[in-house]
Amino acid sequence: MDLRGKHLVLGLTGGIACYKSAELVRLLTKAGATVQVAMTDAATQFITPVTMQALSGRPVFTSQWDGRIANNMAHIDLSREADAIVIAPASTDFLARLANGLCDDLLSTLCIARDCPLLVAPAMNRQMWMAPATQRNIAQLRADGVAVLGPGSGDQACGEVGDGRMLEPEELLDDIVAHFQPKLLAGRRMLITAGPTFEAIDPVRGITNRSSGKMGFAIARAAREAGADVLMVAGPTGLPTPRGVARIDVQSAQQMHDAVLSQLRGIDVFVAVAAVADWRPAEVAEHKLKKANDTDTPTLRFVQNPDILATVAARADAPYCVGFAAESENLEQYGEQKRRRKGVPLLVGNIGHHTFGLDENEIVLFDERGAMRLPRADKLSLARQLVAAIAERLPVDRP
Ligand code: C5P
Repeated sequence: MDLRGKHLVLGLTGGIACYKSAELVRLLTKAGATVQVAMTDAATQFITPVTMQALSGRPVFTSQWDGRIANNMAHIDLSREADAIVIAPASTDFLARLANGLCDDLLSTLCIARDCPLLVAPAMNRQMWMAPATQRNIAQLRADGVAVLGPGSGDQACGEVGDGRMLEPEELLDDIVAHFQPKLLAGRRMLITAGPTFEAIDPVRGITNRSSGKMGFAIARAAREAGADVLMVAGPTGLPTPRGVARIDVQSAQQMHDAVLSQLRGIDVFVAVAAVADWRPAEVAEHKLKKANDTDTPTLRFVQNPDILATVAARADAPYCVGFAAESENLEQYGEQKRRRKGVPLLVGNIGHHTFGLDENEIVLFDERGAMRLPRADKLSLARQLVAAIAERLPVDRP
């Protein structure tokens, strides 16, 4: 319910991507928002107001002269109630009119009369998107403070391939949710390790752990929502990359270590969430280990992996470092001990070690002031609280 209490005006303009807006309304209302749909004449050629009304549960407005608003000020009334106006799809023509302040129908008048943020999701053929006039209009809209969501890239309804597709409804939802998050980490760069590592035994076997990567990915998403530039170094997981987050995939602890150290320049915050294997097999067999007979068992010898977090934290130019700990007992005592041992200002303790793979978690923050418990919640809302805690503790200027 990331949009609980939010009222959105969703504007549709003429484009085949209107069919995706039906799904978008469903996702927005599922996320807790109330949605008032307004459509241009051209949009009604692509999807009917009846469909949009059924999905939003509210009458749809299409005309400036709609008799349902007694004072004939639909453009003022509708925008004053809104926390944001979202135009999806935003056609080439509509963007041009918006950029020039034209307002010859209800939706364009609503936009210019607004006193709330405006988000537009362009949807058009790639040549129309690349046209100098469109790019000029987009630059103008950005300069005017309008948020431009996408466009995406790929197959187009016209059969061509390129930039200009409207983002998928799920992507738009994520961007709209992100829009409402406070920009606590604007201008900051965050590096995150996430997921398990995989330590090879031979070309087909290896040792890993049950980390799903969910907590690390949630923190990456929350940090991005808070305005940070986020790079994630991820062990093997099947999770999709959060929107706007850069990602480097690795397998082993050594690869994770090397990737992290190569990316440290300019990083303000390092969050080590990955469940890094403490040991790896001393040798990786070049060929698959074979069973010689019925009683034969191999013996593995291990060597220690580098401690990525401790290595980063010990550097003279260390970013603000945040560690994680999953203890099965005595968290209060072990958490603070681990914080000191790793040399980090903030350590996050998982309460219990049964968090792997689950959507919820319960955590304790340890810093030099003591322990602060965050009640059980889903991992994304804990990640947002953690991001706020990091933002609060971050030195204003790094040396
Ligand atoms: O020592 P322990 O594995 O309990 O410490 C957990 C914390 O240290 C986590 O933040 C984890 O990401 C990090 N870590 C690391 N490199 C290792 C082992 C743990 O960065 N080799």
